[in-house]
Amino acid sequence: MSSSIPAQDVPEGSVTGVDSYAVGNNGEYFAVGRRCRHLGADLADGSIDDDGCLVCPWHGAKYDVKSGQMVLGPQGFFARIPGLDAGFKLLTKVLPLKRADVRRAGSDLVID
Ligand code: FES
Repeated sequence: MSSSIPAQDVPEGSVTGVDSYAVGNNGEYFAVGRRCRHLGADLADGSIDDDGCLVCPWHGAKYDVKSGQMVLGPQGFFARIPGLDAGFKLLTKVLPLKRADVRRAGSDLVID
């Protein structure tokens, strides 16, 4: 099943929610599952950093949106827990965020 959103609702540097996906634009449109693998924050409320990674709004974990893998573990208090960063990177190698294709259809983006 596909979903759509007006492309103008996803300007470069933004992320928004479409059904179960966080849909963003880091120069290219992307769609990834919107629940952070750490504690389940809604990644549609996240942000995009200078490297084009999706940053979790709760504890700052960063995801590569192409692979769905965490490239930086949870920050703040969690960053001081030995092995947590490596553990989540490994977890998301095995269980990356789901990804969907985003294509342009007229003035809309279609996610499927
Ligand atoms: S819930 Fe995403 S980093 Fe903690």
